[in-house]
Amino acid sequence: MIQIAEKSNAHFCAEFKRAGDPVPEGADLLFDGSYLKTLFWPVSKECTLLLIGLGDKEPGIKERQEAAALAAKEMKEQKIYHFAMNIGVIADENMNAVSDLVQGILMGSYELPKQRKGKKEELSVELLGIPDSRIQEAENALKQGKVLGDAIVWARDMVNMPGNHFTPAIFAEEVADHMEDAGVEWEALDYDAIKQMGMGGLRAVGESSTHEPCMFIMRYRGDQKSNKVLGLIGKGVTCDTGGYCLKAAGTMMGIKGDMAGGAAVAGAIYALAKNQVPVNVTGLIPMCENRIAKDSLVPGDVISSYAGKTIEICNTDAEGRLILADAATYAVREEKVTHVLDIATLTGAVVNMLGFSTAGLVSDHPEFVKTFYKAIAKSGERYWRLPIFEEQQNMIKSQIADIKNMGGSCCGTITAALFIKAFTDNVPWIHLDIAGTAWVDPPLFAYQSVGATGAGITSLYFLAGEL
Ligand code: BES
Ligand code: ZN
Ligand code: ZN
Repeated sequence: MIQIAEKSNAHFCAEFKRAGDPVPEGADLLFDGSYLKTLFWPVSKECTLLLIGLGDKEPGIKERQEAAALAAKEMKEQKIYHFAMNIGVIADENMNAVSDLVQGILMGSYELPKQRKGKKEELSVELLGIPDSRIQEAENALKQGKVLGDAIVWARDMVNMPGNHFTPAIFAEEVADHMEDAGVEWEALDYDAIKQMGMGGLRAVGESSTHEPCMFIMRYRGDQKSNKVLGLIGKGVTCDTGGYCLKAAGTMMGIKGDMAGGAAVAGAIYALAKNQVPVNVTGLIPMCENRIAKDSLVPGDVISSYAGKTIEICNTDAEGRLILADAATYAVREEKVTHVLDIATLTGAVVNMLGFSTAGLVSDHPEFVKTFYKAIAKSGERYWRLPIFEEQQNMIKSQIADIKNMGGSCCGTITAALFIKAFTDNVPWIHLDIAGTAWVDPPLFAYQSVGATGAGITSLYFLAGEL
């Protein structure tokens, strides 16, 4: 439980300090307020402070999340589950900061489901230092932060799940449960429907496994007056072996995380609905495995797609774009979305390019990108836009089909994006490649833990609000 309070009887209290801020006498010998420096310091029998350094720069979203996460981690390490946190210095002018801090606490105290099992201690945090006149604002921000934090924890849990315990059917059931809880309409197209409707991409990849594929659809309507509908499309490959273009053994750890884009879409919609944000969003998650069946895809094959375009398969490990293509076309043609954003752990190339802190962004629509930049100014996540030119478009032309699923040895992130764009019927479109940011080992930031990060959720959430 995290709540705003005037006073607290907790024995432990986290205090944030800028470099140079006064600290209790003696503590200055050990603590200088430098960024993410921490020190437990007893001030009386009833009260021990945990000092957390903010450094000498104005703390932004990332710093607030890291500082709060670190406080939660340090407390947890000492088995302290009830503590106060004086957030006055961080949230004095900007009550949105409360949302960032709460997300930080929830992310920082994240534990794997196995570690949580049987635990009795419930986290209890009292947030102090909010002036009376701003309590209502702070309460709203607290609620938003809690829901976003819960959504991130949920997404991390799903992405961390072992592939054999998280098949497409289990994924669908898990998301359906949460949508029921949030009051979001959902539908799941099964294998027969996928086949019958001509979703050739999802069908072909899905047929590589005995665990059948599924097209999961969520419809959240929070604004009846608006005709805008944001289409969010997330890659939901619960296990990506590469198929006949089998991945090398040494690169296989982490292949269960190939549904992180789908988890981000589900998490964002869950949070929007829980917070009753007045927006309209339709989410699609094509769910499947990419394995080897005796008659699954091999390079050289040609398949059809929901859009009617034929696709030459050049590499069976480039499966994500095949299933996203069907979802994108379905979103535009059947669900009538006005904007498409797809999010996926799509290419190794983006990891080589931007590493684990920054995701790739590709779009041909400057206005939509501007809107997305407003969203990331609120989420604090890092994205970097990559160029698209004719040369790269030409790289996915096929001699024997309408398009091919691989571009060549360079520009892998861009050609993957352009492939998906070819299936969006030219509605405003953004593509996010989170192959680097969805999973960290080791963690880069204090609010992360080894494994799934929950990447994308907050940016999608704020994008919906900005549209
Ligand atoms: N899911 C992978 C991309 C990936 C790589 C995610 C590393 C996370 C970490 C995707 O399906 C894939 O295998 N892409 C290929 C595409 C290539 C064959 C054109 C890749 O990037 O190697
Ligand atoms: Zn793959
Ligand atoms: Zn994949």
